[in-house]
Amino acid sequence: MEGWEGLEGKVAVVTGAASGIGAASARRLSALGARVVAVDVDADGVHGVVAGLPGPGLAVPGDVSREEDVRRYAQRAVEEFGRLDLHHLNAGIVGSFAPLPELTADDFDHVLGVNLRGAFLGVREAFRRYRTQDGGGAIVLTASIASLRGSHDLLPYQASKHGVLGVLRGAAMYGGPLGVRVNAVAPGLVPTGLFSDAAAAAGGGDDMLRRGTTVPLRRTGTPDEIASVVVFLLSDDAAYVHGEVISADGGSAIVNTVRPSGGAGAWDTTAVDGRPDAGDRPAEGVR
Ligand SMILES: NC(=O)c1ccc[n+]([C@@H]2O[C@H](COP(=O)([O-])OP(=O)(O)OC[C@H]3O[C@@H](n4cnc5c(N)ncnc54)[C@H](O)[C@@H]3O)[C@@H](O)[C@H]2O)c1
Repeated sequence: MEGWEGLEGKVAVVTGAASGIGAASARRLSALGARVVAVDVDADGVHGVVAGLPGPGLAVPGDVSREEDVRRYAQRAVEEFGRLDLHHLNAGIVGSFAPLPELTADDFDHVLGVNLRGAFLGVREAFRRYRTQDGGGAIVLTASIASLRGSHDLLPYQASKHGVLGVLRGAAMYGGPLGVRVNAVAPGLVPTGLFSDAAAAAGGGDDMLRRGTTVPLRRTGTPDEIASVVVFLLSDDAAYVHGEVISADGGSAIVNTVRPSGGAGAWDTTAVDGRPDAGDRPAEGVR
C-alpha cells in the first residue's frame, strides 16, 4: 500500500483491536509494513483480526484497565518483536445509557476504568518501554467528539473522554523533549460494535445512520476513515504534529448550534426535553 512514511518495520500496539476502529487501524498499520501487537478483551476477535493481517502480528488478549495485562502485552511485544515503537491506545466502552440521576457509581467507575485509567496505563507503559530502549515512538489516543462537546446522556463516557485529553496533554508535555509525539483522534459518528449493547436506545446504534444525516457531511464515518488519521499521526508525515486532537467527524464538532444551519429552530426542544425523568417541570420559554 502506498502511504505514510516511517511505519515500515515499526512495532505498533493497537488496543481494542478486535473490532471497529482498532481493527481498521491494525489492518492499515500492517499494510504499511508495521508489525502489529493487537490487544483486546475479546480473545477470539483479536486472534481473528491478527490472522487476517497482511504482515506479522501478535494477538494478546487482555484488559487495558488492568496493570498486569498492560505490562504483559508490552512484554509479549518485546519478546516477539524486540521493541515497541508506536501505540494506538483505542480500547473503549460507552457505558450506561441511564439518565443522570439513575447512574450508579459502579457505572461511572467501570467506564472511567477502561477509557481513562486504560489510557493512563497504556501511556505510562509506553514511556516505561521507551526509556529502556533507544527512545523514539509515537502515541495516538482515541478521544471522541464527547471529549469536546456535551450531551445529557452518557455522562461517564463524556467524563472519561474529556479526561483522555488530560492524559494527552500531560503525556505530550512529557514526551516532547524526548522526541515522543502524542496526539489524539476525535471520531464522531462511526457505526461499530461500540453501541451494540444499546442498539435500541435513543442515541444508541439503531438511529446512528439517521443521526448521521445531521452531520455537515450528511453521513456517518467508517472505521477506516478514522484509522487513516491514526496512521497519519503515527507516521513521520506528522513529524511536527504534537499534543493535538484531530477531529474526524464529518464536521460535527464545528457546528454552531444557535444558527439555523446548525439545527436551531429545526427541531422541537419539547421532544428533546421530554425525557423520562423530566417530571412536570414547566416549560421555560425563550428569554
Ligand atoms: N464508534 C464511534 O462512533 C466512536 C466515536 C467516538 C469515539 N469512539 C472511540 O473509538 C474507540 C474504538 O471504539 P469502536 O467504535 O471501534 O468500538 P468497538 O466496540 O467496535 O471496539 C472497541 C474494542 O475495545 C475492546 N475493549 C473494550 N473494553 C476493553 C478493555 N477493557 N480492554 C481491552 N479491550 C477492550 C472491545 O472488545 C472492542 O473490540 C473507543 O475508544 C470509542 O470510545 C468511537
